[in-house]
Amino acid sequence: MKTPAYILAIETSCDETAAAVVSGAGEILSNVVASQIADHAVFGGVVPEIASRRHIELIVPVVDEALHQADISLTHLDGIAVTQGPGLIGALLVGISYAKALAYGLSIPICGINHLQGHLCAAKIGAELTYPHMGMVVSGGHTSLYHVKSESDITQIGQTIDDAAGEAFDKVAKLLNLGYPGGVIIEKISKGVDHSSINLPRPMMNDHSYDFSFSGLKTAVLNLVIKSDIFEGLDLRFSGLPEAKKPKPGKEHLIPEISAAFQAAVVDVLVTKTFRAAKDTGMDLIVVAGGVASNTALREALKEKAGLEGIRLVIPERKYCTDNAAMIGIAGIRHFRDGHYAGLDMNAVSRWSSITV
Ligand code: KG4
Ligand code: ZN
Repeated sequence: MKTPAYILAIETSCDETAAAVVSGAGEILSNVVASQIADHAVFGGVVPEIASRRHIELIVPVVDEALHQADISLTHLDGIAVTQGPGLIGALLVGISYAKALAYGLSIPICGINHLQGHLCAAKIGAELTYPHMGMVVSGGHTSLYHVKSESDITQIGQTIDDAAGEAFDKVAKLLNLGYPGGVIIEKISKGVDHSSINLPRPMMNDHSYDFSFSGLKTAVLNLVIKSDIFEGLDLRFSGLPEAKKPKPGKEHLIPEISAAFQAAVVDVLVTKTFRAAKDTGMDLIVVAGGVASNTALREALKEKAGLEGIRLVIPERKYCTDNAAMIGIAGIRHFRDGHYAGLDMNAVSRWSSITV
């Protein structure tokens, strides 16, 4: 197919039901995201079965709204780009099944998009990317560094060996009894807070690999919470996390201080390792994407370092960092242009390595 006029993009890999319409020239005509945060917050994290059921309820109205906002109808569509993985299998299958049925009914092609490639492609919205460059996806499920040689040649050079950075934000927020989702809450509560009295570890920051580790940092926060005797009736027997309790009188200040110290540790590790990887491999452009890339402290630290090192930095607008379908549509443009279609036998896949980009 030559460059398509209109692509419908669908993203249902986790807890956002999202649809967008993008033009073949890369214009975002609509970008609708229905968050399921309220459905999962009471459980302190995403419940896969609930996510799948909510996607089923939301997919039709969300696509309708995306078409409405783009001011087009189904018959204007030239193709459908849908997230194929990685992600929650049941959640992915809702988007994929819907996309297949719609594509079959409209007799238009469909392509399966790698969610992580989608995150990296969000950087193309409003910016020209040069190749090769260093890409980092920092989200709830991934913290990975990529050597992005071209649009279709992407090699992972490092990843987290345990928790993803976003997962650590969510777990630490739970530990501090701040609620879900943790990243946004920790960012808010940490703003302008002096955390100089708390020194947390920066795991693997100075080793020679491009891998990350955040589980030890989370444990360091847990140990600090226990040692500082912050909560009434700390119950670590089952979850390793305190039961929902208020801080003891006089200890309230420790919550924002620990949050800010944790955020600073994560930011330090991410910035240090990403720039080291870029310099080692001679890259003059760094792209940072994924939900955690919407964090202001991280964005500012990356910008400062980029200025000091003389390396160009592209971070997508916040709304294109967290899960959305516009990034899937942007990634889809090349697939349609190159005739890289999926068959109606396309299946959801949970791992990056089994999906081509
Ligand atoms: O990319 P994303 O929306 O979904 C995945 O692909 O995982 O990322 C979600 C993750 C969550 O762990 C969330 O806590 C984190 O990104 N996050 C943030 C912020 N906003 C979202 N972490 C730190 N600061 C934020 N402002
Ligand atoms: Zn994501």
